[in-house]
Amino acid sequence: MDVEEVIGEVLAKIRPSEEERAFVEGLMKELEETARETIESLGLDVKPYFVGSLAKDTYLAGDHDVDLFLAFPLDVPPERLREEGLKLGEAIGGRLDTYEIAYAEHPYVRARYKGVKVDLVPCYDVRNWRDVKTAVDRSILHTRWVNEHLNGKNDDVRLFKRFLKGIKAYGSEIYVRGFSGYLAEILVIKYGSFLDVVEKADFILRQKVVDPENWLRREPELAMKTVKRETEEDKPLVVIDPVDPRRNVSANLSWEKYGRFYFKSMAFLKGPSLEFFFPSEKPVRSYLSELKKRGTALVTLIFDVPDMVDDLLVPQLERSARGFEKALPREGFNVLGWNVGKVKKAFIMLELDRAERERVKIKPGPEFFTKRGRDFYEKNTKVWLIGKRLYSEKRVKESVVEVILELLEKNQVALGKGIREAIKGADILLNYVPKELEKEAYLFLSREKWNLKD
Ligand code: UTP
Ligand code: MN
Repeated sequence: MDVEEVIGEVLAKIRPSEEERAFVEGLMKELEETARETIESLGLDVKPYFVGSLAKDTYLAGDHDVDLFLAFPLDVPPERLREEGLKLGEAIGGRLDTYEIAYAEHPYVRARYKGVKVDLVPCYDVRNWRDVKTAVDRSILHTRWVNEHLNGKNDDVRLFKRFLKGIKAYGSEIYVRGFSGYLAEILVIKYGSFLDVVEKADFILRQKVVDPENWLRREPELAMKTVKRETEEDKPLVVIDPVDPRRNVSANLSWEKYGRFYFKSMAFLKGPSLEFFFPSEKPVRSYLSELKKRGTALVTLIFDVPDMVDDLLVPQLERSARGFEKALPREGFNVLGWNVGKVKKAFIMLELDRAERERVKIKPGPEFFTKRGRDFYEKNTKVWLIGKRLYSEKRVKESVVEVILELLEKNQVALGKGIREAIKGADILLNYVPKELEKEAYLFLSREKWNLKD
């Protein structure tokens, strides 16, 4: 298939149908009505705004979660926004099918209505970046900017987002560290089309700085500060937010995920296929046969973590894994790789070159001129005296599990602060993982989890 054919087939799958559009539009009307009525009945001065991909018409078919932002006047103090925002969210949520309170930087309400997820997020009604007070305030500005600049390229955004999903590089959340929807939109707007962006994977990386709104000219000091900060932190890309010169839109994009985009783009242009957008399920084999084949050992620490958002947990798990990676070689175990995550409980997996080490232990014995002394002399192959006391030695096999326990006890592993105690109480498993981690163990050991050529 050539590129055009592939694109045509993908578009047929990801472009929402007229039916879906009508459903979504109806839903938005109803929700807006409900929000307005609730706001009025509570006597609040709040404006409802739709943001996110629904408001920009860049959502993928079948994937139409609603983001409804509840914008308070700028002079409302933060604590009141927090309280009244949540109260309002709950009041609206109460008129929908179900709802619960969710936590990000600020609490918000996550509701469901007619089978669709509806986020009700309190924010400030900002006019521009100077007004921005909370992390979510920019979304209204983003929506407006994208709608003013997208110029009918909605389907190109859809293609690019589907491509990124297919290659596992979509989403800015901590478990992905990939491209956010907004970043995908900016790149399409800046470079013209899905194909243009994919063709420029190398060019964009070399340019390093993307500045669609010319902040470097309009606000040189602030924009330069952003570029400098992000470059010093070795970010692959600095995309100065079109609505805020202080922010890098790709701040959460990792080198690994840019790398996936880089290689997958080249591969796609060389051999276009649907597989990039809709990858077939790869078989998950047995992690135990993988272990045997590799001749390595797998140590898994499993533990309950204190109630903590993923954005805080994941970096701490990674820091701890790096701590083990540094501490274990000093004890004679080489770490070939590590993998962390949370499946019910938090886990740290370490692949090691061995599960046991040999060690000499000195055995102090009794005084030589006693019955016990003579027995000690008989029993051991090599014995010597230091003063009147007998000594011997023995070679022991020490398991990495014992070594880890000892390292932890002596505080000789650099661990993430908030999870140190949890790790000290971890279950330590050798060459075995519980059922729910079998897939993860296989993907890690085989490196299929990260294979660029999958
Ligand atoms: P979403 O993650 O829901 O993105 O964030 P989206 O554009 O709606 O795309 P999909 O189709 O659901 O995947 C909603 C809004 O939050 C802001 C943006 O304004 C975005 O439009 N946002 C989110 C960011 O600015 N950066 C992020 O990393 C995430
Ligand atoms: Mn969304």
